[in-house]
Amino acid sequence: MTYSSPVHIEIVDAIALIAIDNPPVNATSHAVRQGLFDAIEKITAQSEIKAVAIYGMGRTFIAGADIREFGKPLLPPSLPDICLSIENLNKPVVAVLHGTALGGGLEVALSAHARVALPGTKLGLPEVNLGILPGAGGTQRTPRLIGIPAALDMVTTGRHVPAEEALELGLIDRIQGGDPRDVALSMATAALKGDLPTRSTANLTVVPNDAAIKDTAETLKAKKPHLFSPHKCVEAIAAASTLPFADGLKRERELFLECMESPQRTGLMHAFFAERAVADIPEKTAQARPIEALGVIGGGQMGSGIATAALIAGLPVTLVERDTASLEKGKASIEKNLAAAVKRGKLSPEKHDEILGHALTCTTNRQNLSESDLIIEAVFEDMEVKKEIFRALDGIAKDGAVLATNTSYLDINEIAAVTKRPADVIGLHFFSPAHVMRLLEVVVPDKTAPQVVATGFALAKKMRKIAVRAGVCDGFIGNRILSHYKKVADYLVLDGATPQQVDQALVEFGLAMGPFAVSDLAGLEIGWATRKRQAATRPSEERYVAIADRICEREWYGRKTGQGFYVYPESGKPYANPEVDVIIQEERQKAGVTPREFSNDEIVARFTTAMISEALRVLEEGIALRPIDIDATFLFGYGFPRFRGGPMHYANTVGVPNLIQSIETWSIEDAHFWKVPDLLSQLNKDSADIASLN
Ligand code: 3HC
Repeated sequence: MTYSSPVHIEIVDAIALIAIDNPPVNATSHAVRQGLFDAIEKITAQSEIKAVAIYGMGRTFIAGADIREFGKPLLPPSLPDICLSIENLNKPVVAVLHGTALGGGLEVALSAHARVALPGTKLGLPEVNLGILPGAGGTQRTPRLIGIPAALDMVTTGRHVPAEEALELGLIDRIQGGDPRDVALSMATAALKGDLPTRSTANLTVVPNDAAIKDTAETLKAKKPHLFSPHKCVEAIAAASTLPFADGLKRERELFLECMESPQRTGLMHAFFAERAVADIPEKTAQARPIEALGVIGGGQMGSGIATAALIAGLPVTLVERDTASLEKGKASIEKNLAAAVKRGKLSPEKHDEILGHALTCTTNRQNLSESDLIIEAVFEDMEVKKEIFRALDGIAKDGAVLATNTSYLDINEIAAVTKRPADVIGLHFFSPAHVMRLLEVVVPDKTAPQVVATGFALAKKMRKIAVRAGVCDGFIGNRILSHYKKVADYLVLDGATPQQVDQALVEFGLAMGPFAVSDLAGLEIGWATRKRQAATRPSEERYVAIADRICEREWYGRKTGQGFYVYPESGKPYANPEVDVIIQEERQKAGVTPREFSNDEIVARFTTAMISEALRVLEEGIALRPIDIDATFLFGYGFPRFRGGPMHYANTVGVPNLIQSIETWSIEDAHFWKVPDLLSQLNKDSADIASLN
């Protein structure tokens, strides 16, 4: 029997096979839930059916509830009810898993009477990453199968557990190779014959473990103080050990609904979609050029990081440096990065040896780049040096090779213009450390061919990075906005806050690091060079804060020199640099500023409003395609708190009228810096929100 629903039933003798057919990931949308409900009802009524198996069609079992339905009124039947009806079915039900069995998908499987996974299946309860908790019995059934400590681990980390580990834990009963439908048929038959033991998870008892619950709760309090749902996950698991099954389910539902109401849930789900939405670019239908060999020019921190990322992604790399000493340094840095990747479990020792044996070529001869499909220039930020390299590459690179620059600020149109092939030139702006940070800004100059843009995105995918399309301007999306909000951090310090207070307020808001700690980490000389470059064109009415310049004049460039805004002792924690305090007093005096107090809330408001204002100008100018691209840029490249969804999502929660009111208030003291962006005024006129621009 086949229904036009995404759930199909096939009867083979006394076995009913239920297939979920809802591409791409078989999420339990309303239609799937309804289909499952109808299927179970039908099977219950058919006494000739003696056993049941549920499996997924296509690339995966069910990867979870349909996230797009969250926040809308929930249409019955609910997933918890479907899980109960599977568990209460009067015939054995086997879940056959392949691909990923995640969230609500795993919960469906947990309510079956036996679970069989194909090799390579990954199982997980990743709801915590979306700001919620497993809400269809996952927090009650998982500890019954694998115990409290392992359940706490799965539910609070959301990690994907490989089938072998799941078998060892007792989460599944067997690993069986084959086609999902065939395995479903053979396993349901085995269950019917008693060759595959079946049981109801609800009937198992939980072994209490108060110590594990207390430990996890304390660790999460210390490590994830901002987050709401991990703590609720622990409460739900605790309920499994103190309450009977039915009451535990009720408690889980209450906690689930609390999480659904939390603003963190919308932020985290927005971040989930942002990660994917950025791939929707005008060039998405263009054919990417094949990339089988990469060239990297420059073996400094950036170049060696990019080379490392490419090597880990399986691409052979030719690294070019101008002399043997620099080349050796670059090579050593790649070796160090690769060794660290092995240590972190990101690279197998065998692959590590293979890379160093065959995949990396180091040379001082640029001619060796003649076979590279894509060449990334990563030398220091100097237009003339970059132009010289691109002129040379024009003569060396093979036809169709993509010529990329890793510049973070410079005009790529100008760089492209020195070649006879501007259509092949693009910006690939990696973030340091390039083998760790997930963001890649793909910067598209005027003449770049669509295939070249598509190649940049394909490279990012290969490197498991998140590519965001950006236009050319000083700093592109990320650094352009950063330069603006960095100014507000400087103004706050000149006007009375300390760098530590600014950093602290923003860390409490959820940023991974405050702006002054970030500057110290990146190296204060970078911002100094930018400020010098911009000096000639800086408007006379702009307030200029010279505190960082004064620090740089002492050759204190931050972490690498042992001091900057903070002092970095050999051992122990960094602390506020007392000499910087003196510099601040002097600069305040010079500027005639009487210091005043700022609350942490005001610091956060000024900082984020500056960020949002410049982001709106970046949108207005078409540098970013949509607000969601800016969100992805800041989530994956600048440590913006994921639970706030990104600066544009956050702006939406603040609201257009409130943003305008703040800017107008602060413009009384500094009308040059605080201007209402035209786009914000337009949104206000239209009574529209920022999300409408997505
Ligand atoms: N709901 C709706 N859409 C989903 C989805 C879901 N649960 N999971 C993935 N999708 C969509 C993606 O948005 C993407 O759409 P697009 O092509 O329009 O951009 C498409 O499916 C393919 O997804 P990916 O690009 O991510 O494909 P991958 O193969 O790289 O990854 C995956 C597949 C590992 C399943 C990954 O998509 C994933 O991790 N999904 C989320 C899984 C999850 O969080 N499940 C729990 C949901 S909450 C829940 O179940 C609550 C319950 O307890 C009641």
